[in-house]
Amino acid sequence: MNAAAKVFLDSYGCQMNLYDSELVCSLLRSEDYLITYDYREADIILINTCSVREHAEQRAIGRLRSFGSLKKNKPRLILGVLGCMAERLGEKMKEVVPDVNLVLGPAAYRDLPRLLDEQLNGHNGQFITAQSNPGENYSGIRPDRREGVNAFVSIMRGCDNFCSYCIVPYVRGRERSRSPEEIISEVQDAVKCGFPEVTLLGQNVNSYRWQDVSFPDLLGAVAEVEGLKRLRFVTSHPRDLSYDLITCMAKGGVICPSLHLPAQSGSDHTLKRMNRGYTRGQYLEKVRKLRDFIPRITLTTDLLCGFPGETEDDFQETLDLIREVEYDDAFTFKYSVREGTQAAEMNDDVPENVKIERLERMIALTRKTADSSRKNMIGKIVEVLIENPSPKSALEWQGRTACGRVALVPGDFQRGEIIPVKVEEVRGFSLWGNKTTDN
Ligand code: 5AD
Ligand code: SF4
Repeated sequence: MNAAAKVFLDSYGCQMNLYDSELVCSLLRSEDYLITYDYREADIILINTCSVREHAEQRAIGRLRSFGSLKKNKPRLILGVLGCMAERLGEKMKEVVPDVNLVLGPAAYRDLPRLLDEQLNGHNGQFITAQSNPGENYSGIRPDRREGVNAFVSIMRGCDNFCSYCIVPYVRGRERSRSPEEIISEVQDAVKCGFPEVTLLGQNVNSYRWQDVSFPDLLGAVAEVEGLKRLRFVTSHPRDLSYDLITCMAKGGVICPSLHLPAQSGSDHTLKRMNRGYTRGQYLEKVRKLRDFIPRITLTTDLLCGFPGETEDDFQETLDLIREVEYDDAFTFKYSVREGTQAAEMNDDVPENVKIERLERMIALTRKTADSSRKNMIGKIVEVLIENPSPKSALEWQGRTACGRVALVPGDFQRGEIIPVKVEEVRGFSLWGNKTTDN
């Protein structure tokens, strides 16, 4: 009875959430639901949420309330919450947004078509939450991908690290890996469908394991997939980044010379209480090895300021780390208490105005290192994988270098083409240059 029921799905948060939304679309389409990109014509509105910071949840709640108000004119509209906030709040979601009908965490999506069927067949208006399946890795489901050049492929789910500030292990459950056969076949499928680039996803890809297959083994095998042009992966936990992975990346080929390596802090005092499992010195040693083996590698990171007990001296060590590593980009955050985590038991003693001010200093410094690393590229030739017409100029296309930098190139190109470009300028965060025939 779901024929022609239209679903609008809105997604927030990390790349894993975007991938999960593609799985949800695939599950729904296979049961004859229609996906719409216009919420006004939807019979069902789903929001895939993020819990990593308070702010992310507040945004999702605002969005849910505004969709909830559509029920005044459309009483049969079904409103569902997916993702990490759904897992974290469960039944409580009903108190936060009374208009919500369905609440499903990241390990419960297989039940979604059935629960929507029930809602459409007379149970409309009820409130339902589904049980999560702790071992769920969505084996056998192929994501319903949007067009683009990059396909995400999940290789593992969950996290066992329990960094003291982080809610992820509580909402996404224990680590579990997918079989190499399934991953490789999904990559082959993506390439056949015209995606030249694949990004392997996991909360901590370095702890991927399937029988005796480790992450470097898997990466090496995926790199052999015929027709694949570029291979990336996120996220790497610095503690688990192995020598084997570095040597595997150093072989080059389709494996891109760029790595996202979240440091979180540059202070041993803070890293210890964050439960990160490495010291500043160990982190820097891995950075040195990466640069020795892969000289042109670009490094990006996540940094947190204002963690409980963080002194100005601790924070200075984070700024020092940014200078020393010369990150190509950094995602910077101020600490936000997550109920139920170990850090929530600590005294959140850094005042909000100090958190904001430290965040601003981190942003300003990473801009500087990012800018100087881009300026070093002027005069060099880079291979740009063309993605989209430039959002800023009808006469240019936008793409990415193997190192992950955005590049703007005047001319008319095809999505998915790889072209040599001579870098002439840095414009904002982007490289700018013309297609070249020089070598
Ligand atoms: N407060 C602020 N930022 C957080 N992150 C994780 N938990 C929190 C929190 N409680 C950041 C970390 C992580 C990124 C995905 O989000 O930097 O790497
Ligand atoms: Fe959170 Fe740490 Fe796991 Fe990353 S590694 S998801 S920061 S607990």
